[in-house]
Amino acid sequence: MTHTPTKTMQLNDVRQAFIDFFKSKNHTHVSSSSLIPHNDPTLLFTNAGMNQFKDTFLGLEKRDYDRAVTSQKCVRAGGKHNDLDNVGYTARHHTFFEMLGNFSFGDYFKQDALKFAWEFLTGDDWLALPKDRLYVTVYHTDDEAYDIWHKDIGLSPERIIRIGDKGGLYQSDNFWSMGDTGPCGPCSEIFYDYGEHVAGGLPGTPDEDGDRYVEVWNCVFMQFNRQKDGTLEPLPKPSVDTGMGLERISSVMQGKHGNYEVDLFVNLMDATANIIGVPSTYEPSFKVVADHIRAVSFLIADGVHPSNEGRGYVLRRIIRRAVRHGNKLGATGNFLYKLVPALVKEMGDAYPQLSEKQDEIASVILKEEEQFAKTLAQGLRLLSAELENLTDGDTLTGETVFKLYDTYGFPTDLTADIARERGVSIDEAGFDVCMQAQRTRAREAGKFDVDYSNAIKVDTPTEFVGYDLLDNQSQIVGIYQNGKAVERLNEGEEGVVVLSATPFYAEGGGQAGETGEISTSTGVFFVEDTKKSSTAIIHYGTVKMGQITPNQPANAQVIADIRRASAKNHSATHLLHASLRQILGTGVTQKGSLVSAEVLRFDFSYDKPISHDELTQIERMVNEQIQKNTPVQIEYLPIDEAIGKGAMALFGEKYGDVVRVLTMGTNADNSTFSIELCGGIHVAQTGDIGLFKIVSESGIASGIRRIEALTGMGAVRYVQTGEQILGDLANNFKAKRNEISVRIGALSDKNRELEKQLERAEQKLASLQIVSLLEHTIDVGNAKLLVAKADGVDAKAIRGLMDTAKSRLDNAIIVLVGETDDLALSASVAKNLTDKVKAGDIIRHLAGELGGKGGGKADYAQGGAPKSANLNNILADLTKKLSADLT
Ligand code: ALA
Repeated sequence: MTHTPTKTMQLNDVRQAFIDFFKSKNHTHVSSSSLIPHNDPTLLFTNAGMNQFKDTFLGLEKRDYDRAVTSQKCVRAGGKHNDLDNVGYTARHHTFFEMLGNFSFGDYFKQDALKFAWEFLTGDDWLALPKDRLYVTVYHTDDEAYDIWHKDIGLSPERIIRIGDKGGLYQSDNFWSMGDTGPCGPCSEIFYDYGEHVAGGLPGTPDEDGDRYVEVWNCVFMQFNRQKDGTLEPLPKPSVDTGMGLERISSVMQGKHGNYEVDLFVNLMDATANIIGVPSTYEPSFKVVADHIRAVSFLIADGVHPSNEGRGYVLRRIIRRAVRHGNKLGATGNFLYKLVPALVKEMGDAYPQLSEKQDEIASVILKEEEQFAKTLAQGLRLLSAELENLTDGDTLTGETVFKLYDTYGFPTDLTADIARERGVSIDEAGFDVCMQAQRTRAREAGKFDVDYSNAIKVDTPTEFVGYDLLDNQSQIVGIYQNGKAVERLNEGEEGVVVLSATPFYAEGGGQAGETGEISTSTGVFFVEDTKKSSTAIIHYGTVKMGQITPNQPANAQVIADIRRASAKNHSATHLLHASLRQILGTGVTQKGSLVSAEVLRFDFSYDKPISHDELTQIERMVNEQIQKNTPVQIEYLPIDEAIGKGAMALFGEKYGDVVRVLTMGTNADNSTFSIELCGGIHVAQTGDIGLFKIVSESGIASGIRRIEALTGMGAVRYVQTGEQILGDLANNFKAKRNEISVRIGALSDKNRELEKQLERAEQKLASLQIVSLLEHTIDVGNAKLLVAKADGVDAKAIRGLMDTAKSRLDNAIIVLVGETDDLALSASVAKNLTDKVKAGDIIRHLAGELGGKGGGKADYAQGGAPKSANLNNILADLTKKLSADLT
């Protein structure tokens, strides 16, 4: 179904026109903000142009402009606004879309907002939409907006519709709120009438959901800040926030009724068809892939990675849905990642970060495709078998949906999507029940991540003697294999050994379980890990020699070096924790900790990256404590007394009545440096730690930082490696160590200078070359035609050469073929000649002749092809053909 706009515009041109229009009205062009909203925990993804200005509307943030224009990347998938399931099956739903918007922060208000909108939509220099195709709505009591439309802009009353509340006050299509709280206000929407051949009624009528009148622009008059309790407080200054979906308005401008018929989507669908090797059609799966590749690529570019929770899970769902629809179209191997270049071609100019991260985006998608492929086929077989037995109107059981989710990685909406194709719905409530049951199981399984510990029930508690001893003589009280007690464990067999008393520390309090050997008179069991199982300590490992049986006397020996290295890391963790609190403030609290023989890792709450200076101070403070070499003191105290002394306990940890209290180090005033409740293994004196070296600092979640550090010989080796690198650099740069960075700075300045010189030389060369190229120009009627080959000019340089040629030749068709290792094709056609010849057609023709690819618009197009011995003949023929076309 089509209608004919007065002028046609490509999507990229509509975006540019919008920005240009508002720039001409003194608006500052502000870049789109990230899809991950900053400082707004209420939002999963950026979903409107105004998100980045929320604090500006609220008067909390001052910007150096009070008018802005943006084209904002938005995602509506997951969270409150979730359009994912509809995408592909409707004309206008997207997961990713661009919202054009103009904003006033206490500057102009209703009058200008509406006049600007009208001028842009109907002005001859802008979109030039016929006025009789437009209708507007206003909030029912907003007489001011009504009068502006009627009296100032001149719309007749039947084109202005008042929309009231549905339900409570301000619950109206014409009252826009960002969310449950935040900026809001009445709004005025502009609708485009697709004509009477499309079913549907005006807004406010019973048929308003039809497709005839489509909302294209929403102008919000921001006036209030909605509070948690629902009350509306006036904003400091009345403001304006507008939003126009770029895809929608582009479909209007291209005489199309659906967004997927717009150039950008047609190109993406063609590219999909090409990659998969099938003809392009408008079937839903093409739309799904074309839509999803945008959301996926932009999300990855903004730093989201596929995962099983939060934003990462939404991304995973979108990728998997796209893959499944690609498979429906006939894609066999991994294909989605191959679409990235086509997307970059469409949108890379407007969003340079997309081009910059092209490779990363493709590789993240490919990895997820590979992972999904592993289980997809099996899952689909299961699902098809289940669906075989169902017919239209039936429901797929929650257990099946859960199994597909749990075992095969099928997001529920994917299952729902496939089921829907057979008219079958899914039992979401049943799925939720299974999900809940699994969570409970997981909780009951406790912290154990290996199930061998789970099934073992040992009645007698194991005595732990490891605080004082590295080896100890005791007795084997039980041996288990696959959760069952056994009478012997033979050479090579894996199992679990329980002793009456053990020096092996069981994993806990962030410290890894210990390793070593348990030997009896008949065999040696190598301990790979030690854990707790209720009151017993269990040793997991393999019999290396002979065999072992229950009740044998046994000698248990922990590997001393590993224990010593872990002890250093554990004690250093306490010193680090105390230093962080002294330097960054007592707001720092422990969020997680891991201590092994190799490394220590400490996670803690802190809301910003830690500066280099602060890290240096922290590192120095820990090392000062190490050098003071004070004894590490251990006391057993009633919990209340320990807490009273200031011992740090972990929130959410369970402690007994009597606790083990670790005290370490002294401050300048002789007070205690660190005091913590801890069951771990520690050094005897702080000096035993030797050396403490931070190796990384990073953010692992919002508001949580992670420091990784080394101690003892690990730290020494790390420093030595750094020294080695520094020495090599000094040699290579022939500089003293402290001069290296100055030297590198100077070299990169020099490099930049040389690049500039090279660029100037290339430009000079090009302008010399252009003179000889222009000699090939011929006159055809009053037009000029230049078809020429340029030696040594690559795809990058050909554009500049073309620009120079264009500036020298008016009213011309110019075809330049740059020849290096391959051919760079480019064609330019003066605007007034494009009805006779189109640049895109020239390049497609040339590419066809030369076995290359390319295309573009009517006035400019580019392509590439392999070198050809026949090039001169082809160009001669092209000259003839173009001369003929021009006459
Ligand atoms: N913020 C308004 C919307 O999203 C313009 O519709």
